[in-house]
Amino acid sequence: MALVTSAEMFKKAYEGGYAIGAFNVNNMEIVQGITEACKEEKAPVILQVSKGARAYANHTYLVKLVEAAVLECPEIPVVLHLDHGPDFETCKSCIDGGFTSVMIDGSSHSFKDNIELTKKVVEYAHAHGVVVEGELGTLAGIEDDVQVSAEDSSYTRPEEVEEFVSKTGVDSLAIAIGTSHGAYKFKPGTEPQLRFDILEDISKRLPGFPIVLHGSSSVPQNYVTMINENGGKMPGAIGVPEDQLRKAASLAVCKINIDSDLRLAMTGTIRQFFNEHPDKFDPREYLKPARANIKELVRHKLVNVLGCNGKA
Ligand code: G3H
Ligand code: 13P
Ligand code: ZN
Repeated sequence: MALVTSAEMFKKAYEGGYAIGAFNVNNMEIVQGITEACKEEKAPVILQVSKGARAYANHTYLVKLVEAAVLECPEIPVVLHLDHGPDFETCKSCIDGGFTSVMIDGSSHSFKDNIELTKKVVEYAHAHGVVVEGELGTLAGIEDDVQVSAEDSSYTRPEEVEEFVSKTGVDSLAIAIGTSHGAYKFKPGTEPQLRFDILEDISKRLPGFPIVLHGSSSVPQNYVTMINENGGKMPGAIGVPEDQLRKAASLAVCKINIDSDLRLAMTGTIRQFFNEHPDKFDPREYLKPARANIKELVRHKLVNVLGCNGKA
């Protein structure tokens, strides 16, 4: 199967009460770890590329890595998506350059400017057979090189969503209900709780419309411990409880973004490897277990959190 858009995936996910995993890719080992798990679990998948990933690995390398994964995994549908597109030009470059889906993140603009920018991207994308994700509400945390403090974050206002979707023509909408980017999502000692009341209000206003959750890593404590026991220092790293993500997936949420968890798995595995084998210096020797652990983590997400295994 060639690269596809997320249109059919989201329709099935909405009706089936599950979500598609959207995993960020930056290099070959991450692409392989994710897609090998999806192939074995027969799960559709969204591989997403941020502005930072394009700056790090180069657009063409990333597109070719994803195309290689499509050839290796012909049984599963794969979407190539721009994560947090910052402006029209970046979205256009990805639409022209082989992506099947883009996000235009106008969430830092005024409501009016967000609508104007998103509409412009939608018009260009739809004319080229590409789908668009917009965003309303602001997540806390680090996104590319922009840091948003918890005080400056804001939940999505349900009363704005109908106007935003109808005026822009977006295909899916990212909302803010308490998730945040990075590995420090909640203060230690507090009870992590997503705002399901906001999600339910939004989904009543937009029946059948696919909702997206960013900042949805769960920050597995086994990898935080592995990092801390092998020279790292990540005290108080806390993520979104997986049962809350599972609940969101059973509701209107059709796409769940996970990046930090894969970074933790890769970093923890490599730190442990170096600690146990200080004499080794062949990158293949430490990237191999890192890739294997990414694969097992993605398998766990597909089966126990997203519920999209067997849906390809
Ligand atoms: O939301 C941001 C994603 O985790 C991508 O992170 O900008 O460091 O590539 P990045
Ligand atoms: P995490 O930092 O929780 O993995 O979120 C990733 C994300 O939202 C990518 O857009
Ligand atoms: Zn995000």
